Amino acid sequence: MGVDSLGYVGFNVTKMAEWRTLLEQVFGMEARPRAAGGAVDFRLDEYHHRITLHPAAEDSVAVVGWEVGSPEKLDQLADLLREKGADVAPGTAEQCDASKVKKLYRYTCPMIGCPTEIYYGPLVSHTSFTPRRGISGYKTGTLGLGHIAFWVKDLEATLSFYREVMGFSISDYIAWDDNDAVFLHCNPRHHTLALMAEAEGRPAGKFQHLMVESVSRDDVGYGYDIVRDLNIPVAIEPGKHSNDHMQSFYLKSPSGFWMEYGYGGREIGPDWEVRNYDQPMLWGHRMVSP
Ligand SMILES: [Fe+2]
Repeated sequence: MGVDSLGYVGFNVTKMAEWRTLLEQVFGMEARPRAAGGAVDFRLDEYHHRITLHPAAEDSVAVVGWEVGSPEKLDQLADLLREKGADVAPGTAEQCDASKVKKLYRYTCPMIGCPTEIYYGPLVSHTSFTPRRGISGYKTGTLGLGHIAFWVKDLEATLSFYREVMGFSISDYIAWDDNDAVFLHCNPRHHTLALMAEAEGRPAGKFQHLMVESVSRDDVGYGYDIVRDLNIPVAIEPGKHSNDHMQSFYLKSPSGFWMEYGYGGREIGPDWEVRNYDQPMLWGHRMVSP
């Protein structure tokens, strides 16, 4: 029971041009503009797309898409979500076509408040991924798109929901300064979801960051140089995390939330033991702009 990976994310954005520059020139993603409506899908592996930008008057999360491996598991999860009071509705043919999946259900996450889809049967393109710059590619497959982090109102209740309903397991905890975070996995990726307790200036429901993981440390390094050359604000300097060992840097996206560009994250094995850390970094990762 539960989800198997983070499949896709969508954002409503006020600054489409800046976003396209970021995703194409820094991350090397392939833009696939939709036929109507102005939305742009972005491809970074064999899937039709993993990220969608929707032009909008306000910046927000448009959707978090969780992949489930079979139609039976999908229906069971939809039933369980309904039991827990979520406003689950089956996706229409048009919604499935837009998300490029065989079947989906939509609901608002009762804990985080974000628009959410659970789905199975993603469309795999027969053409090869054509990166916008010379990158080696992204670590996805069964590990999914990457990881996401949200600030939440009730950390314990949200943790219980994502463990008991959505099928996640705890990877570890980090508490530092006035931050309190728990990291969760649903496949061997160290964490696919991070939950952070709300705090001053960091309201519940707000999206904190999206991480995508390169297969090349050099791709991340070149990306860092491009970020500096384009004067894109760096949020956290290059460094290595204490828990997932990801070597990464963070930049401030045109929507205000952060994106993490990572390499070399460790994976969860069968003998994983939950740890509790007092800092998120081993080295580096110094804060530049909050
Ligand atoms: Fe991260």
